[in-house]
Amino acid sequence: MSAEFAVVRSGRPAGAEERAAILAAPGFGQHFTDHMAAATWTAEGGWEGHKVGPLEPYQLHPSAAVLHYAQEIFEGLKAYRHDDGSVWLFRPEVNARRFARSARRLALPVLPEDDFVTSVATLVEVDEPWVPAPEGEESLYLRPFMFASEAFLGVRPASRVEYAVIASPAGPYFESGVTGVTLWVTSTYTRAAEGGTGAAKCGGNYAGSLAAQREAAEHGCDQVLYLDSAGKGNLEESGTMNLLLITSDGRLVTPELGTILEGVTRDTLLALAGEHGLTPVERSVSIGELRAGVTDGTFVEVFAAGTAAVVTPITGFKGEGGGGEGYEFTVGDGSPGRKTVELREHVLDIQYGRAQDTHGWLHRV
Ligand code: COI
Repeated sequence: MSAEFAVVRSGRPAGAEERAAILAAPGFGQHFTDHMAAATWTAEGGWEGHKVGPLEPYQLHPSAAVLHYAQEIFEGLKAYRHDDGSVWLFRPEVNARRFARSARRLALPVLPEDDFVTSVATLVEVDEPWVPAPEGEESLYLRPFMFASEAFLGVRPASRVEYAVIASPAGPYFESGVTGVTLWVTSTYTRAAEGGTGAAKCGGNYAGSLAAQREAAEHGCDQVLYLDSAGKGNLEESGTMNLLLITSDGRLVTPELGTILEGVTRDTLLALAGEHGLTPVERSVSIGELRAGVTDGTFVEVFAAGTAAVVTPITGFKGEGGGGEGYEFTVGDGSPGRKTVELREHVLDIQYGRAQDTHGWLHRV
């Protein structure tokens, strides 16, 4: 049975007008709701203090372990309003499972999966007026996270840890999310090595991606595409998204798990592939195969998938070949592919209650 998250309502919630102004143009990750869910773990007492209370800053000792050794993990999921006003989560138990796996990898305590789902659902219930109307691609983005708050400079798993969930009304992650984004294939940086933290959703992975992201922007690209760290030239993932390719003979190909993040949207798309006449295939694809396949028409569509980015068409790639010469190629005619758009609509239609949820993925709040 799940722990109860006792609700203490904020004495100073945003006014209806202020909230409406934010919901009219939420952007991504800039505005936050009135409340947060929280619980604290100590080595002596286990998990305690489960509550949903007013959103408030932390007071941390400057020696708090997270500030030094980055013992931290997070998740990302969304709450969607349907046309009848009801509010739903999408596969929250999959995020709960991944959060537990990330916790184990970062030597953090495991939050029971039911408690994860209850914390998120209780926060959404309390901040329900913050869930945007079902227009465009707007939703309430939920960010569960956990970090080492113990004041101690020794390098060992912390004996005090904070868990929390905050919520942020959100529009599309990319301005050009529907028209497509370009990827910079970095040969300077890699994201993860065998045995490392690549499969965990931990802040450190994202800190390490920022210089690569800057490199991508300097080359006029929207995001980075990482190759494997062993030098085989295999595609891994983009910093905030998994990568998927469609072949001319109807396969939906995506790099196999291992050093990449096991994306919920990735898994959803693999499950929906059959309904779109596609056969899901998880296998390595090298950058050489990608370049040749896009040029000779074997790979007809490429897109990226993630909770924040949903399904984002990839319209072009740039990178550096051996010997310092650069390369650049466009996927198809540079516009989003037909199947990509179809899959994107299908995922969104399920999330917003416009298509039948035959897989039982929606969780009513
Ligand atoms: C998500 O899609 O929820 C992510 O975690 C990407 C995020 C880092 C913006």
